[in-house]
Amino acid sequence: MDLIIRRAVLTTHIAHRDEPVDIGIDGDRIVAVEPRLAAAAREEIDAAGLLVAPPFVDAHFHMDATLSYGLPRVNASGTLLEGIALWGELKPHLTQDALVERALQYCDWAVARGLLAIRSHVDVSDARLLAVEALLEVKRRVAPYLDLQLVAFPQDGLLRSADARPGGRPLGGFDNLKRAIEMGADVVGGIPHFERTMADGAESVRLLCEFAAEKGLRVDMHCDESDDPMSRHIETLAAQTHRLGLHGRVAGSHLTSMHSMDNYYVSKLLPLMREAGVAAIANPLINITLQGRSDTYPKRRGMTRVPEMLAAGINVAFGHDCVMDPWYSLGSADMLEVAHMGLHVAQMTGVDAMRASFDAVTVNAATILGLEGYGIAPGCYADCVLLDARDPIDAIRLRAARLAVVRRGRVVARSPAARAALSLEGRPAEVDFKLSR
Ligand code: FE2
Repeated sequence: MDLIIRRAVLTTHIAHRDEPVDIGIDGDRIVAVEPRLAAAAREEIDAAGLLVAPPFVDAHFHMDATLSYGLPRVNASGTLLEGIALWGELKPHLTQDALVERALQYCDWAVARGLLAIRSHVDVSDARLLAVEALLEVKRRVAPYLDLQLVAFPQDGLLRSADARPGGRPLGGFDNLKRAIEMGADVVGGIPHFERTMADGAESVRLLCEFAAEKGLRVDMHCDESDDPMSRHIETLAAQTHRLGLHGRVAGSHLTSMHSMDNYYVSKLLPLMREAGVAAIANPLINITLQGRSDTYPKRRGMTRVPEMLAAGINVAFGHDCVMDPWYSLGSADMLEVAHMGLHVAQMTGVDAMRASFDAVTVNAATILGLEGYGIAPGCYADCVLLDARDPIDAIRLRAARLAVVRRGRVVARSPAARAALSLEGRPAEVDFKLSR
């Protein structure tokens, strides 16, 4: 074999109950997962009872804006409105080279964090489709080490942007989106709550779902990213998904209005989403900071109803959404930070709920992207992350170091374990923040 990772604890394992396993890798595939694998390999890694997880997957990101922090100025108020204004100021100055360079740098950070698959929305509102070209170039360049999936995203509205430009043709926004798909974007995006009226929003959902059905594509819309409890485009998205037989291929991103919806209405909505196989992508870091801004006190949490959707059998992932861009000044491609915030905001502190938070940045997100060969099992791609933690809950608690990141059987990143040296009389010389028993 080419590589064996010995004494690994898997995400499905329970400490002190399940025996660690050895993971045998040949070429770019996992060929064996069993205790005490009787084989030799060119290279061995001793996991020493630590967690080996499949790679992190970010189901919702904006790579065309990332790492633009400070360009042309910082978001001084930290609000959504100033962020949108800032993006508008930046857009005319974007160049393809700068977009590519920033995205490649972000992908470096991602790999270092064991984040090996990202679904990025790319703004198609600009008729030049500069960002689409740039991110297609990035997708090609990072393909050996990171799966980048691109969503054609009409940030300025599908119908709203149609006649916004002087001389704009009817459905100009849709033309841009279709061209982006022809160029190679993978997924159909949308933003129904940003159209001029509720009716236009519903119409945009219908048009986009019909287009996706015709082309055999997945759908992922920014949907109801608002505190308005009457923003209910997710209902239309579920209905169109069901009508067109798109089950399992559609996701609603953000869905923050659900936080403020009437409980009885939600009790009808969640079964509709389940019936249509519509997945949900919450973005806890961004929405806890951007939503509820017009509230005084009590202030609403800006996150959709994650535990309730999971209980209803709906697939839910957590996305990073933004890192150092006009809307969010923080972040470092760390999906454990995302899971950590999601867990807290949703009060997912039960044992199963904490594990579900880890799934929301790994396997649940992989299902939404439709990744092939994802997981730690024979036949899967040899992609995994060795974390300095004993289980998924500990990984979230510690935002654990990625001791080794493996892509297609090759170690592509290593990080040192987090240790602190102490100089205290009668106390240990070092701490690693793990329970010593
Ligand atoms: Fe977003």
